[in-house]
Amino acid sequence: MQILRQMSALVPVLAKWRGAGERIALVPTMGALHAGHMALIDAARSRAERVVATIFVNPLQFGASEDLDRYPRREAQDVALLEAHGCDLLWLPTGDELYPPGFATTVSVSGMSERWEGEVRPGHFGGVATVVAKLFATVRPDLALFGEKDFQQLAVIRRMTGDLGLGVEIVSVPTVRERDGLALSSRNAYLSADERERASTLPRALEEARDAILGGEPVALAIDRAKQRLGAGGFAPVDYVALVSAATLEPLKIATSEMRLIAAATIGTTRLIDNIRVISDTNFRTGYLPR
Ligand code: PAJ
Repeated sequence: MQILRQMSALVPVLAKWRGAGERIALVPTMGALHAGHMALIDAARSRAERVVATIFVNPLQFGASEDLDRYPRREAQDVALLEAHGCDLLWLPTGDELYPPGFATTVSVSGMSERWEGEVRPGHFGGVATVVAKLFATVRPDLALFGEKDFQQLAVIRRMTGDLGLGVEIVSVPTVRERDGLALSSRNAYLSADERERASTLPRALEEARDAILGGEPVALAIDRAKQRLGAGGFAPVDYVALVSAATLEPLKIATSEMRLIAAATIGTTRLIDNIRVISDTNFRTGYLPR
């Protein structure tokens, strides 16, 4: 695997691959890589001749009171994992190159970015959209892979890519979970042993709510119970639990073909997010509608 830091070194490598007719897949990350990230690398490997990963802890997407400084950094371990999964090139951009002095352009996806995560983390999705647009412009990949774990981020990036006609195919990869259901996340490293044990309440509360909704329980009741369950499991505050359209992230009162239950809550000092798909296509096609 080639490891490059300078943009000027990256450009000829990519040009050579493109010239040879090879498809390039991009996997943007902030490092501290785990099996969730590796699922993206594996999916990229199976879809393209060349896989490029980036590691950049993007200051633009962190709020003033957020964990930019304590965000885990584990470069040597990340390199070993990427190599083991057959990544061709790791680009570690510097902040100065991505955001040169005088950098004055940002990308904002209105509407969708202000809800849910955006409400609690104002400016977050603007920071994500801007860095992803910059990575796309530099690497010019044929496809880019993102995890369903960050479901709203995925929706924002799809919207931006479509709206700006960036010509990058966005591929989503299902969430990789621990055995007890907790979604893998670099931020799980912040959890104490006790918090880690309680953290699986989050996926369990979502599964219960999904089953209740599919069983015909009114959406509002199922959501209230999920919130109570999270509170009892030691989560405070519970920022939101909501049933939304998978495409627009708008809250839903009636069933559509693609619904998602999304949630965010804090345990100790660690804020966790998770989401699950609510209705299978089969259920929808057979005409089943939750009340
Ligand atoms: P990061 O949190 O490092 O995540 C990088 C990618 O890995 C994202 O697409 C995320 O959804 C995916 N991912 C994380 N945990 C996962 C899991 N358990 N299962 C499957 N995929 C998972 O998301 C970011 O970085 C940044 O916002 C970024 C897109 C790189 C822009 O800075």
